[in-house]
Amino acid sequence: MKNIDRMFVFTGLVFLLIGMSLGLKMSMTQNFALHGLHAHLNLLGFVVMTLFGLCYRSWPKMQDGKLATVHYLLHTVTVGAAMIMLYFVLSNMDLAPKLGPVMDMTLIGTLAGVILFGYLFFTRARD
Ligand code: HEM
Ligand code: HEM
Repeated sequence: MKNIDRMFVFTGLVFLLIGMSLGLKMSMTQNFALHGLHAHLNLLGFVVMTLFGLCYRSWPKMQDGKLATVHYLLHTVTVGAAMIMLYFVLSNMDLAPKLGPVMDMTLIGTLAGVILFGYLFFTRARD
């Protein structure tokens, strides 16, 4: 995939719009049950993805080959799926025993993406 830096920032913005909208909804309804979802949409979604995007932009060699695309897809798909599951868990705690472990497995994929990012950074971000 071309322009992985832009894709990271663009997708981060989508997470930010959803996260901020949820923040406003919590504020307007004074119901903070979903604060953990709001925090991670904004942080794991927008903040972290934007930082990844800026790193890929600063050291373009990190984008060579397919690994950066694998990282982008891993992060987007696993965080997206985990946030949807977190929504259901926080909305109905009875779902936690079933959905919780699936969510944890999904987030191991996010962690794998971060390890991949670390590999690309340490092997290619030299200039
Ligand atoms: C329109 C923008 C935003 C609104 C209206 C908003 C609103 C809120 C509200 C109502 C809470 C819950 C407070 C509570 O539980 O007592 C909250 C928590 C939080 N927000 Fe936002 N927020 C916004 C943007 C952001 C952004 C951009 C970030 C991060 C980059 C962020 C990070 C957090 C975090 C980390 C918490 C959790 C704090 C905690 O639980 O201790 N928020 N926000
Ligand atoms: C795989 C990644 C992550 C997992 C599994 C995870 C898990 C958690 C859990 C279980 C909590 C406690 C929630 C609660 O007590 O309600 C938490 C809170 C928090 N995490 Fe994460 N986290 C991850 C990534 C991150 C990242 C990357 C950031 C920041 C860049 C972050 C920032 C926070 C903050 C600010 C809180 C406290 C706010 C709140 O409770 O709403 N987390 N996280």
